[in-house]
Amino acid sequence: MNFKEENELKVKEIEEILNAYLPEEEGYQKIIMEAMKYSLMAGGKRIRPMLMKETFDMFGGTSKIIEPFMAAQEMIHTYSLVHDDLPAMDNDEYRRGRKTTHVVYGEAVAILAGDALLNFAFETAAKAFNIEPEASLRIGKALQILSAKAGIFGMIGGQVVDVRAEGQAISKNVVDFIYELKTSALIESSMMIGAVLAGASDTEIKMIERIAKNVGIAFQIQDDILDVTGDAEVLGKPIHSDEKNEKTTYVTLIGLERAKAEVERISEEAIALLYDLNTDCDYLECLLSSLIHREK
Ligand code: IPE
Ligand code: IPE
Ligand code: MG
Ligand code: MG
Ligand code: MG
Repeated sequence: MNFKEENELKVKEIEEILNAYLPEEEGYQKIIMEAMKYSLMAGGKRIRPMLMKETFDMFGGTSKIIEPFMAAQEMIHTYSLVHDDLPAMDNDEYRRGRKTTHVVYGEAVAILAGDALLNFAFETAAKAFNIEPEASLRIGKALQILSAKAGIFGMIGGQVVDVRAEGQAISKNVVDFIYELKTSALIESSMMIGAVLAGASDTEIKMIERIAKNVGIAFQIQDDILDVTGDAEVLGKPIHSDEKNEKTTYVTLIGLERAKAEVERISEEAIALLYDLNTDCDYLECLLSSLIHREK
């Protein structure tokens, strides 16, 4: 099996897990379940649950407790996208190849669908306690990471500084702060949770956090590059969103060519750190390399 086939297979497996954990569409509040499913199952690269599972495997994890956490992480990521696209934020009308949730369901339901995905993520992750009660300590630690990295010292913190900086000239330090929080934080939690649930040591978990931070920053720089040079059809979301919102990005700060070089440099650094962990992880390495030149 080549990398692309393996990736497609893994995406399919992740989507089966997501489907299994989605709530039934029933009751007077049925529309919220529909809107959750609409955004969650629209497609997407599933990079976060994939990184979580690969890190879990790398540290020898075998239990099913990883599955509710994979679903939870993708729910949190998807909620961040639903809210990111709202008129009050980036005001974008396409996501994952479809009309955004607020365009289809209206703003009120889109706000609530985002809230619902965030809350349901924790309801879902907590199901790990039922799967393996003996692993309660690890599960508790994973929940701490899941919540903290999504919060004000993580993704939300980055999004706040990002929207407040629109139309302003900001320094590279502030841009790095934004990227580290709005994007790296969820990638850090993905990989750290994989490590924690597999029983990795504290030193290994720290190392994984460093690797994930680099992966996240490179990922966001590439996202900014694609916002300028990408193809909306392939991306499944509009291009030139950053220009429309007067965002300072790596592309506006250092130019396209240097931004591309940064993606490569930072990704290679992450891959080199992965080598230092001395584990067998061919697929993960290929996955990180594939992100350097990704087109979506
Ligand atoms: C988009 O994330 C938001 C960023 C942090 C750049 P992805 O590029 O992972 O989006 P999907 O999940 O594949 O749709
Ligand atoms: C968003 O960054 C990061 C999130 C936390 C959602 P962007 O605003 O650049 O993401 P896209 O380009 O809309 O996917
Ligand atoms: Mg945004
Ligand atoms: Mg956006
Ligand atoms: Mg973007």
